[in-house]
Amino acid sequence: MDSRDTAVVILAAGKGTRMRSELAKVLHRAGGRTLIDHVMRACLPLKAAQILAVVGHQAEEVAEVAESLGAETVLQQPQRGTGHAMQVARRAIRKSAKLALVVPGDAPLLRPQTLAALLALHRRGEAAATILSAELDDPSGYGRIVRDSEGRVQAIVEEKSATPEQQAIREVNSSTYCFTLEKLWPCLSALRPDNSHRELYLTDAIALLRRRDERVLAHPAPDSREILGCNTRAQLADADRIFRARKAAELMDAGATIYLPETVVIDPEVTAGPDTIIEPCVQLLGKTRLGARCRILTGSILHDTRVDDGAIVGPHSNVTASRIGADAVVGPFSRLRPGADIRARARIGNFVEVKKSVIHEGSKAPHLTYLGDVTVGRDSNIGAGTITCNYDGFAKHETRIGNRVFIGSDATLVAPVRIADGAYVAAGSTITDNVPADALAIARGRQATKPGWARRRRKELAHASHRAKKPRAKRRAARRKPARRAKSRPRRKSKRRR
Ligand code: UD1
Ligand code: CA
Repeated sequence: MDSRDTAVVILAAGKGTRMRSELAKVLHRAGGRTLIDHVMRACLPLKAAQILAVVGHQAEEVAEVAESLGAETVLQQPQRGTGHAMQVARRAIRKSAKLALVVPGDAPLLRPQTLAALLALHRRGEAAATILSAELDDPSGYGRIVRDSEGRVQAIVEEKSATPEQQAIREVNSSTYCFTLEKLWPCLSALRPDNSHRELYLTDAIALLRRRDERVLAHPAPDSREILGCNTRAQLADADRIFRARKAAELMDAGATIYLPETVVIDPEVTAGPDTIIEPCVQLLGKTRLGARCRILTGSILHDTRVDDGAIVGPHSNVTASRIGADAVVGPFSRLRPGADIRARARIGNFVEVKKSVIHEGSKAPHLTYLGDVTVGRDSNIGAGTITCNYDGFAKHETRIGNRVFIGSDATLVAPVRIADGAYVAAGSTITDNVPADALAIARGRQATKPGWARRRRKELAHASHRAKKPRAKRRAARRKPARRAKSRPRRKSKRRR
C-alpha cells in the first residue's frame, strides 16, 4: 500500500469530561492497552508518510505513548473542538501530504484493514471527503449522516442540534475520515462555533464542502462495533469485553482450549501453544507465554511469565515475572514473585511463596513455605513450613541448598547459609551454620518425656470438679475449716508436677 502522500492525524487532545476522571480519556485502558496505543497500532500498517497526534489534555503523557510508537505530536491548547484540533494539525502536516486520514483517539477497536479500505475508497471515488460511517441500532450520542433524496451525503448533524427526524437516522459518523487537504483547508477556516459547546466542529466541514459542490462519500464499516467511541466508563467496558473476546478467539484458533472464554482476561501479547487448557476466570497478562499442553486452572493470574510445555498451574495461583519449566506443577494457591525459576518437573505446592530463586529439576516444596533468594539443587525436598530467613533488617542474603537434600518440616534457614548435597536437616531446626554434604543437622531443644504425667493430671482435674459439685450444705461445712486445706493443697500439687 502506498500512503506516502498521506498524513494520519489522530485527535487526542480532549479531556473526556464524560469519563469523570483525572486521567485524559485516551490514557484509559481497554483490552490491556491505552486507547491511544490501540489507535496508533491500527494506523501503523498504513505506512503513512507521517502520523501526527494532536495532544492537549495531559499532553506529555499522551505524547509519550504516541511518540514511543512513532508519531509526531502537536499541541492544541486550549481545546476548542475537533475542527480546531484539525486547524492546529495543519501547521504540522508536511507540505508534501495530499490526503489526511483523521482518526479519533478514543476509538480503539478500529482495524488497520478498515482504515486502508477507507483510504482506497477515497482515492477511487475522487472525493474531497470520505467518511467512515456505521449503521447502529442505537445511534444515540453520535453525529448523524444526513443524505439527500438521491443518497448523497449532505451534512453531519451532531445529536444536540438534530431535529427529531434527523435523530431517527441510524447511520452515524465514526469521526474517522479521509480528506483531500487542498479541499479541506478553505472549509476549515470557515468553521464557526455556532453550537451549544461554542466549539469548532470538524463535522461542520462536511456541509461546507457540499456547499462548494465537492464530492463527499460515506461508507458504513463492515462491523459497526469497530467504530465504538469510548466516551464513558460503560463504553470503555464494552470495548474491553470485545478486545478480550477477540484475543480469546485468537488463542483458540491457535489450538488452545478456553472454557468460559467470556470470563478470562488475556492481554494482547500473550501466546499459547496447542492443546493448552485455560480454565474459567484466569488472567494472562503482559508478555506471558504458554507452551503446548499446559493447564492453567481456574482463578490463576500470570503476569510476564513463561510456562513451558506440559506444566500445570493449579487454581488460584499468582505468578509474576517468573518461569515455570516443562511438566512442573505449581499451586493450588502458590505465589511466585519476580525471579522465581521453577525448572522441569519441580513442584511448588499450596501456600508456598517463592521469590528470586531457582528450584532445579525434580525438587519439591509442597506446602506452606517461603523461599526467597534461594538456589535449590535437583531432587531435593523442602518440608512443610520451611522458611528461609533472607532478610536481616538491612540486607538480603542467599541460601544455597544442594542436590538430593532433605529439609524437614518447619525448618528455619537463617541466610547466608549453605546445605550441601545429600544433607538432612531435622524437622523444627533453626539452621545458622553451613551443613556439609551427607550430614544431619539438628538444631532444636531436646525433648523431655514425663511418664504418667497426663494420667495424673486428668485425675487431679476430675477430683477438683467433683468437689465443685458437692451439695451446698457440704460446701458450707467445708468453708468452716479452710485453713488446713489451703496449706496442704499447693504443696501436694507442686510435688506431683515434678
Ligand atoms: C465526535 C463527532 C461525532 C461522532 C463521534 C464518533 C464532532 C463534533 N463530533 O463526537 O460526530 O459521531 O465523534 O465517536 O467531531 N478532540 C481534540 N480536541 C478537541 C476536542 C476533541 O483533540 O478540542 C479529540 C478527543 O480527544 C477525541 C476526539 O477528538 O479523541 C473526538 O472528540 P469527542 O469529544 O470524543 O467527540 P464526540 O462527542 O465523541
Ligand atoms: Ca468520542
